[in-house]
Amino acid sequence: MSVIISPSLLSADFGNLNSEIDMINASAADWLHIDVMDGVFVPNISFGFPVLEFVNRRCEKPLDVHLMIVEPQKFVPEVKRVGGAIMTVHYEACTHLHRVVQQIHTAGMQAGVSLNPHTPVSLLEDIIEDVDLVLLMSVNPGFGGQKFIPRILDKVRDLKEMIARRNSHAVIEIDGGVNLDTGRQLVEAGADALVAGSFVFHSDNPIDTIARLKKL
Ligand code: DX5
Ligand code: ZN
Repeated sequence: MSVIISPSLLSADFGNLNSEIDMINASAADWLHIDVMDGVFVPNISFGFPVLEFVNRRCEKPLDVHLMIVEPQKFVPEVKRVGGAIMTVHYEACTHLHRVVQQIHTAGMQAGVSLNPHTPVSLLEDIIEDVDLVLLMSVNPGFGGQKFIPRILDKVRDLKEMIARRNSHAVIEIDGGVNLDTGRQLVEAGADALVAGSFVFHSDNPIDTIARLKKL
């Protein structure tokens, strides 16, 4: 199966959101990655639900919503309302992660859990069968355009092994510093889905860039 490509809207031109979303619709992108930040969990603020509502009306691809916020459980109904297909919360932001995953499923969405670069994949051992997606951060969350942390490649291999051993159906998605070079290494290591922000939206021909990532 080919790798799933989820361009990150964070690097789009917000002054031309219509045309950016039309580009995504016309491209080989599988999902659209949406980075919601609160200025508390991460040292940056991006955009919130009123913007997502608009994006959802225009975007034909499933919305892959990555919440970099504290207390994400408060917003499960809101993410569903604005069209979230996948709702991903941070391991580090959830005291009762299993309950949040249940709430996301009850709301009718796929449940993802994200790990910061310093968080070991072994901590997922007792929840891996219950999640649909694991989002491994290959940069410290908060900003686009940062440098890929190579240590992530070992984490992908370890997670792949855990998923097979526990008979989990979880998809491995990687977020941060993805380009054709790091993307190829990630696919070789066992990644199923790649998020790419600046590499797609700052390229001369984003549709062609997405097509090239899709062929990795
Ligand atoms: C970072 C976000 C990423 C970001 C990736 O906190 O979670 O999704 O948009 O940007 P690039 O691909 O430019 O590293
Ligand atoms: Zn993200």
